[in-house]
This record gives sequence, C-alpha cells and structure tokens, in this order.
Amino acid sequence: MTPPARILVTGATGAVGGAVLRRLTAAGYEVYGVSSRGGSSPRQLAWRIGTEEPPDALRGAWHTVVHCAADTRWNLSAEESEQANVAPLRALLKWKDDHTRLIHLSSSYATGLTGSVEPTSSDAYRNTYEWSKAAAERLIAAECPTGDIIRFPIVMGARVDGFLDRYSGFFWLPSSLCTGAVPALVGDEDAYLDIVSTDDIAEHIRDLVGGDRPTGVRLSILGRGDGAPRVAQAFHTILTALNTWRAEHGVPALEQLRYVSADQWNRFYLPFAREYLDRAQLMRVTAFQAYQSYLSITDPFEVTHRTEPITSTLYRSMRCWAETHASTARRIPRPWRP
Ligand SMILES: NC(=O)c1ccc[n+]([C@@H]2O[C@H](COP(=O)([O-])OP(=O)(O)OC[C@H]3O[C@@H](n4cnc5c(N)ncnc54)[C@H](OP(=O)(O)O)[C@@H]3O)[C@@H](O)[C@H]2O)c1
Repeated sequence: MTPPARILVTGATGAVGGAVLRRLTAAGYEVYGVSSRGGSSPRQLAWRIGTEEPPDALRGAWHTVVHCAADTRWNLSAEESEQANVAPLRALLKWKDDHTRLIHLSSSYATGLTGSVEPTSSDAYRNTYEWSKAAAERLIAAECPTGDIIRFPIVMGARVDGFLDRYSGFFWLPSSLCTGAVPALVGDEDAYLDIVSTDDIAEHIRDLVGGDRPTGVRLSILGRGDGAPRVAQAFHTILTALNTWRAEHGVPALEQLRYVSADQWNRFYLPFAREYLDRAQLMRVTAFQAYQSYLSITDPFEVTHRTEPITSTLYRSMRCWAETHASTARRIPRPWRP
C-alpha cells in the first residue's frame, strides 16, 4: 500500500493555515505544519522561514507545500514587508525539490490600485502588504515552471459556526466598534465587501491537491464577485451579530455608526481626533484610515471560483469573535467627546 502523500502547510497556526491543515488531514494526507513559533501538536513545528534553517524533521520528500505563512499587517515598512512576505517564499522555493508542488496563498487585494500584480512601484498599491503580496506572485511567475496561486478577499471563519484559529485582519473592526475607537464608517455604503470562509479556501486547496499538477502557473480567484455583500449590508450583519450577543449578556446595544465620505473624514473627523483623543485612541483611528480604500471598492473582483453566499458566515464569525473576546465585546464605547 502506498503511504499517504506528505504535505507541508506553512503558517499552520494562522486563521487560514489552521483550517487548511485540518481539511487536508481529514482528506487522508500526512500533513505537517510549520509556523514561526510552532504549534501544540508534534506535527506542528517551529520554523521562522526566511531567517532560520528548516528543522531536521522536515527532511525527505514532500508532495505539496501549501504556503499560508504571511504577515498581514499593512503598516510595515517596505523592507519589513519584503522580509515578511517575499523572503520566506524565496527560502521555500530554494528548500523544496522540483517534484514538490507549490500552492501559494495570495490576496485579491494584491492587484492593488491598477488591477495587476505587475507594477513594481509601491505607488501602485494601497499599502506595503499588497505590494509584497504582488512581489511574491511575480517571484513565482519568474521562478516556478508550475504552481498554484490562490487569491481571495477578506476571510471569515468556518461556515458552520464561524470558528477561526486566529481572529486577525478584519476583526480589528468589531473590537474598534465595541471600544468606540471608530466614530464613523468611512467609505461608500454601496461598495463591494467581498468575503470568503476558511472552508472555501481549504476545500479549494483539497481539490487542487487531489487534482492534476498544473502545466504552468495557475491562478484561482475565490470570492462572490458581483454577488459580494455591499458595505451597508455587511455592517448591518456585523452590528446585528454583536448586538444580539450583547443583549444576551445584558450589555447595551451598539449604535449604528454614520457613513462619512473620505473627504469628510479627513477634513473634519481627523483634525478633531488629533485634538481630543488620547494616544491609544489616536493610534486606532489612524489605523482605521487604512480601511478607507477597502470600504470604497465599487468594481467587484473578477473571480474564477464563485463562493456561496457569505452573510450567515459573517454573522456567525462575529458572534464567535464576541464569544472568544468577551471582555472587549462587552465594552461600552467611549463617546467621542472631549
Ligand atoms: N486573513 C485575511 O483576511 C486574508 C485575506 C486575504 C489573503 N490572506 C492571505 O492568507 C494567508 C494566511 O493569512 P492568515 O490570515 O491565516 O494569517 P495569520 O492568521 O496572521 O497567520 C499567519 C501565520 O503565518 C505564520 N508566519 C508568519 N511569518 C512566518 C515565517 N516567516 N515563517 C513561518 N511562519 C510564519 C504565523 O506564525 P506564528 O503564529 O508563529 O506567528 C501564523 O501561523 C496569507 O498569505 C495572507 O496574505 C489573508
């Protein structure tokens, strides 16, 4: 009997990597995970890819490497984001042998402001994260004869219960709503906010691993495309989920924030914030500015694999966030007054 194929998942303790690792294990593969700090099981090893040598336990042949490791922060310097999101990929390409398949996780936002990963200038991207994800895609195109790149938008948890191994990325938002760090929603109510579940990504990866090796570099783009929730609808769902949880725990409801345009925000709210808020609040408000452009996307992403409707998963993920971050979810927002 042939032993099951060995698969390595990088970033296996993260929001997406954890779900991928479980899905591939359930499909019968012999799956190992690596992450900077390692995980709790013997198959979850520590390897800070790009700066450390691989552990000896990773010697031998690998059928596939699923590269989920990344630093998704938007506020790194160009050098830091290159080190976080390109250098580890370069190290993996050097480490793996020619028979090992590569499945690389990118982002729908890697195409930046021009709709393409080709520009090398940071001006073509909203932030250094996007710029580094585009650079990683270009590296694969230049150096890999074959491989899979998967782009997807904002990630929510499992479809059944909203569970995530880590509430990173977008979950900064419910926390800010509960603490009062955001005074208004800066964006366009009708803009698209495309969202997928970790299940969508993990199932797609399982299908790719079980299918034929691509003949070149193959791109999949997951998402709802023009069926994505609009900003207003997504925020209504988020608020309903948080307020239902708060009502069950005897906490007053959060109020619906008003929408303001980027112009109003920059001319009125930001100067006000600078004058009256403390340093911690101001840091959150400044970070929130980074979201402006993400809440103003009026052209839907083109997708190659249209995912199922996401609203109920968004609702469950927000409730799951509240359950696991109860002290923040119970907070009474601090009013925006001097
Ligand atoms: N979350 C989203 O909304 C979203 C949207 C679009 C695309 N993506 C893409 O999806 C992928 C997974 O993101 P995620 O949300 O799951 O990230 P995450 O929750 O922040 O997890 C990141 C994982 O990568 C590991 N890691 C980071 N740098 C590493 C390195 N140099 N060597 C080894 N491990 C390293 C972390 O290890 P430690 O735990 O030890 O730090 C952690 O396991 C990324 O490629 C990201 O760009 C995410």
